[in-house]
Amino acid sequence: MTQVLVTAGPTREHIDDVRFISNASSGRMGYAVARAAAAAGHRVVLISGPVERTVPPGVKLVPVTSAIDMRKAVRDAFPRSDCVIMTAAVSDYRPARRTRGKMKKGPAKLTLDLVRNPDILAEIGRRKGCRLLIGFALETADAEKNARAKLDAKNLDYIVLNSPAAMGAVRIDAVILGRDGSRIGMRNVGKLRLARRIVALIPAK
Ligand code: CTP
Repeated sequence: MTQVLVTAGPTREHIDDVRFISNASSGRMGYAVARAAAAAGHRVVLISGPVERTVPPGVKLVPVTSAIDMRKAVRDAFPRSDCVIMTAAVSDYRPARRTRGKMKKGPAKLTLDLVRNPDILAEIGRRKGCRLLIGFALETADAEKNARAKLDAKNLDYIVLNSPAAMGAVRIDAVILGRDGSRIGMRNVGKLRLARRIVALIPAK
């Protein structure tokens, strides 16, 4: 049975115990990929940031909060995965310090120090072996050129290109770009249909 690891949703980068930096990711894409992969008969682990969604049948959920938590969960599950599909909108930065409890308001101006989060996909790309790696790219200008550059830089087999309008949306425009130069364009497609196209890229074991 093929083991598929899917990441989904946003990450939360806490400033203090009640405040955080995050993004508008709904998790819809990742949950659709997990659903489609399980329906195709694969064993699926879904590592998800905080979203309010129902876990698809047959899928094992590993809930996480921050990018650092997600990295740990991915590292734990990676060795026994045959395929990794990273749909998560991982926060690129986190606050340099997390205040315990709740920060009190202070002067009129406050500067928040941020530090870079690890690029989880790039890290596993370096230890890919014979696994199938599929990433996502949200691009605005020079979309296909930038997505192809990401595919190479992160050592991926495929990258699914979409635009910021896809965040939280039900129907989206997407292009699946392959390491082999392949290109599958889809317009106004539902996320479950796109998910099935992505899952169809997984070779039979
Ligand atoms: N990703 C990741 N870890 C990060 C950031 C992104 O694993 N810290 C993954 C995402 O899950 C996605 C892919 O990398 O599959 C592309 O993410 P994206 O945010 O579009 O691109 P970045 O590589 O962060 O580049 P930039 O923000 O500079 O466009």
